[in-house]
Amino acid sequence: MKNYDLVRHVKGESKFVDDILTPEGCLHAYVLYSQIAHGDIKSVNIDDALQMEGVEGIFTAKDIPGENQIGGIIQDEELLASCKVDFIGQPIAIVVAKTVALAKEASKKIIVDIEELTPVIDPRVAFEKGELIMSPRVFSLGDVEANWNKCALIVEGTVESGGQEHLYLETQGAFACPVEGGGVKIVSSTQSPTTVQKTAAKVLGLKMHLIEVDVLRLGGGFGGKEDQASQWAAMAAMAALKLNKPVKLILPRQDDLRMTGKRHPYSSDYKMGLNKEGKIVNYEVTFYQNAGASADLSPAILDRTLFHCTNSYFVPNVKATACSCKTNLPPNTAFRGFGGPQGMFVIEAAIYKAAEKLGIDPCFIQEKNLLAEGDEFSYGQKAEQCMATASWESAISKFNLPHLKKEIDEFNAASKIVKKGIALMPICFGISFTTTFLNQASALVHVYSDGSVGVSTGAIEMGQGVNMKIRQVVASVFSIKIDRIKNETTNTTRNANTSATAASSGADLNGKAAQLACNNILNRLKDAAAKYLSLENSDLIEIKDEVIYYENKPTRLLWNELISSAYMQRVSLSSHAYYAPPGIYFDKDKAKGKPFAYHVYGTAIIQVAVDCLKGVYEIESVKIVHDFGKSINKAIDRSQTEGAVMQGIGWMTMEELKYNENGRLLTDALSTYKVPDIYFAPKEFEVEFLDNPNDSLAVFNSKAIGEPPFMYGIGAYFAIMNAMKSYKPEKNFEIISPMTPERLLLSLYN
Ligand code: MTE
Ligand code: HPA
Ligand code: MOS
Repeated sequence: MKNYDLVRHVKGESKFVDDILTPEGCLHAYVLYSQIAHGDIKSVNIDDALQMEGVEGIFTAKDIPGENQIGGIIQDEELLASCKVDFIGQPIAIVVAKTVALAKEASKKIIVDIEELTPVIDPRVAFEKGELIMSPRVFSLGDVEANWNKCALIVEGTVESGGQEHLYLETQGAFACPVEGGGVKIVSSTQSPTTVQKTAAKVLGLKMHLIEVDVLRLGGGFGGKEDQASQWAAMAAMAALKLNKPVKLILPRQDDLRMTGKRHPYSSDYKMGLNKEGKIVNYEVTFYQNAGASADLSPAILDRTLFHCTNSYFVPNVKATACSCKTNLPPNTAFRGFGGPQGMFVIEAAIYKAAEKLGIDPCFIQEKNLLAEGDEFSYGQKAEQCMATASWESAISKFNLPHLKKEIDEFNAASKIVKKGIALMPICFGISFTTTFLNQASALVHVYSDGSVGVSTGAIEMGQGVNMKIRQVVASVFSIKIDRIKNETTNTTRNANTSATAASSGADLNGKAAQLACNNILNRLKDAAAKYLSLENSDLIEIKDEVIYYENKPTRLLWNELISSAYMQRVSLSSHAYYAPPGIYFDKDKAKGKPFAYHVYGTAIIQVAVDCLKGVYEIESVKIVHDFGKSINKAIDRSQTEGAVMQGIGWMTMEELKYNENGRLLTDALSTYKVPDIYFAPKEFEVEFLDNPNDSLAVFNSKAIGEPPFMYGIGAYFAIMNAMKSYKPEKNFEIISPMTPERLLLSLYN
């Protein structure tokens, strides 16, 4: 089972927004953005730019027909800056011209006068100044205060984790075309067509039904297009309506790097207490999230940091506080893991430091504290069908951890400069949008009279293989060949009020909706077959491999004839279905509930080799036992695992975003922002499917895969630390990620 899109991708035939054949007279938009991180706008003069040959229009905040507001959770973000700017890269004007080059040229003639104010880059400084996106959030369990005196060991410290650029291959962009009746059709590179529709409607002052959003596929999203695709679409739509011409807006790579938000950097304080046996008694943690200039999805991301702050461990007493701090950076946003990785990194750091004090391997503390069935998370949900220990033990035995450790010890004893390190990384990741109402999806299935099938859902294909999985669901319910089925584009007129394809739930939710829609049609088909074959009991009819069976015996009726017969019998061959997973809820005020349909578990063993003279390192092996549930498509799930782990390792090691004190991104090109490439990939990469006898709550007992394996990457950080430790055993290193070669050397020799 290959990913549906593979062959087309390889041949370069897959279409992305910029590949759409544009109608004659299509115009191109370029966005002029602030070069100053914080300041008051005194004036914007577009006169000279407007005079340029080929320029058709320039639009600023005052031209917006509806509301100049694109904030989702909190209404705190303008589409175009009106009187102040809060980050470098903030859009100020849209320049529309006959070509992109002309539009860009003209933008240089716009004179923006800004009175500069001091920018704030550091979340702790923002916190001190009271610059918060919202009031701090607290999750707690048990009683931390009452238990410090019962702890045999207490460790305290700070942890820094850096941001991360999404680096989707397809940059942000949209194409907008005016349609009859004052509406607009938008083709957008978005994970959330409904958000684009809503945002464009608000900005344009139009009803949602006048805006159709269509998405074929994305060249990657990784969370970066969950909330931040809307503004470009709204700008293109506004220009298209103002000029009554089609308009395309594609961000050039460097502008995309400068203008869009990234994974949130976090600065955190922890205090952990353990008893004599190495059990964690107390965990107190405060997270300072660097939100950037406006809320975007930061509040929801902050929540997920809290949900995952104890990773796959049971901690009886927890007090976790999280503050979303407003700084003069582009608004940071969703990125694979959605705040979870930042939370998990801190508890892993605390465990590392506790182990360091005790002079033992962190894995002894990790193992002692793994979640068991029925253990309570700080948010009130209990661990059910818990695979924490199962995956841990399975990883240790399958990959023979004692042997791996022995080899490393021997290697390190004999090697002066190159040191090897190994670390285990268990994960536990909750599946469901923690904003409960978002857990809903719909599907529309048409069986055409020739027996071919079209399926539309709210799911967005962005390389993760959701389209293939949905086709497999349809093929399985009808028991027909997969090539009869086509995934239609994701379109707001076929599936309304959809949630973003995010939270790893795309296949879970939309697959279930597709299954329900197919079942509706299947039941009608069974009745039609019974009628056609003059059989009594339609319950005894089944379709197997396109043959209609009655009482487990094949009849002469095949799929194609059944469909044409049903059509002639005037049976509807279409169905729309809706799915909302039952039983989940979360009380925000009490910070308790059952927010997740289920959890995903697994354990990784990561081994590295560090050259302690040069500071460079290699990821030697990644070995994982992961709970996939009953995988719908093992090839896709395996590749999602590999991709996520690499992205996680990149975040922890080489990907470093640097800003100067004026809030300017210094790493705004691929010469300075390094991401893992094929040479950095582990020499050995093993992914084992854990036998899971349980029923999950997702479609066909599968489990969500998109995000959870990202967090295995955290293991690479501690594997490197362990290697460094064997070079300089007496040194206590600070926990600051990413562990770039530069930081590694400075830590070793400073
Ligand atoms: N895989 C690819 N190739 N490209 C992507 O953009 N996004 C990730 C993950 N895997 C992504 C990806 C993120 S952040 C999420 S939430 C899930 O896919 C979303 O898709 P799913 O819900 O269908 O797993
Ligand atoms: N994950 C991803 N996106 C979201 C979530 C979540 O939990 N909640 C709201 N948007
Ligand atoms: Mo993924 S960060 O939920 O788009």
